[in-house]
Amino acid sequence: MPSPGELNLDREKFLARYWQRQPLLIPNAIENFSVPLSKHQLAGLALEEEVESRIIECRDNTWTLQHGPFQNKDYQRDTPWTLLVQAVDHYIPEVAQLRKLVDFIPQWRVDDVMVSYAVDAGSVGPHYDNYDVFLLQGEGERLWKLGQFCDRDTPLQPHDDLRILSLFECEQEYLLSTGDILYVPPGVAHWGIAQGECTTFSIGFRAPRVNDMVSRFADQLLEQLDPDQFYHDAMQTPASRAGEIRPRDLERAMAQLQGALDQASGNHWFGELVTEPRYENLSDDDDLAEAREILATGATVVSLSPRAKLAWQQESDGILVFANGSSMLFPVSVMPALVCLCEHWRLAAQDLAAAQGDPASADLLDYLLEGGCIYVE
Ligand code: SIN
Ligand code: CO
Repeated sequence: MPSPGELNLDREKFLARYWQRQPLLIPNAIENFSVPLSKHQLAGLALEEEVESRIIECRDNTWTLQHGPFQNKDYQRDTPWTLLVQAVDHYIPEVAQLRKLVDFIPQWRVDDVMVSYAVDAGSVGPHYDNYDVFLLQGEGERLWKLGQFCDRDTPLQPHDDLRILSLFECEQEYLLSTGDILYVPPGVAHWGIAQGECTTFSIGFRAPRVNDMVSRFADQLLEQLDPDQFYHDAMQTPASRAGEIRPRDLERAMAQLQGALDQASGNHWFGELVTEPRYENLSDDDDLAEAREILATGATVVSLSPRAKLAWQQESDGILVFANGSSMLFPVSVMPALVCLCEHWRLAAQDLAAAQGDPASADLLDYLLEGGCIYVE
């Protein structure tokens, strides 16, 4: 699969000045860029039951949202409209390759590549997102307006499903044509308006909510704590005011809570959280048995599934591998196979033979197969 080309970007400068902080236009972002998906292919995908898609249109200042799957007649409309298809990288390998453009940012931060098609003047309205996005212009042109920084207190138009801003304060405008990229950090108001028919590829990132981090950390800690430890308060002074929880009682509680937090060991909760798959893995036991058979009897290629969420971290006693929300510790000998899969998305020829010749790497392949992260050919 040819890669989309090199991103024309000073990565160090981008990370120091722009990432998560301010928008950046990257004109002619990709050398010899060719659009990896046509509007017809996109429209076809949105007819499929398992593909997540939406159509947004604006009529007389009223925004409406419709969820897919669609039928061809849904594409006949007389007002400006936009079709948005989520996770197109899961279905189209050429679109998945776009994720390689941003491989200088940890892979587990990438969410999906959403693709939109709009007729002339089509737009999803002025809004902000909670996540970073690289908006890569496919076919045609789109005018992007950038506005104020927003947060959860920013007023929105009343709507059950859409988060359209009540007020958009335009600060910059950029006209993007094929191969241009606009990077937009979380919270920055943006409003794209198609100038003629156009397609946009949004390489979107994800970040766990701190709420979820706290909850997952607490779950891990609860697995480790002795359930028969209790609040203790030896050597206290006599209670003088009936019913009172005294400052000293609270201090004791906080100190004991801190003591419990200090007992936490390991941090697999984080990798498990950030590798949780976007969609459920639909393979069954028969598929798994068949794949195991192929792997054992002479697979020629092992490929990373486009929907796989695979990450790892070095531990003192080995490599902790995270695959679609679960984790397992492996010896360091799995590193070559693991890094090859993360970087090239496949193992073939000598790389595959070497992996199969190392018992720990063979166990890794079996683990990844079971977790729906790889497939064999
Ligand atoms: C679009 O492609 O029209 C919308 C993308 C976005 O605003 O995040
Ligand atoms: Co957006």
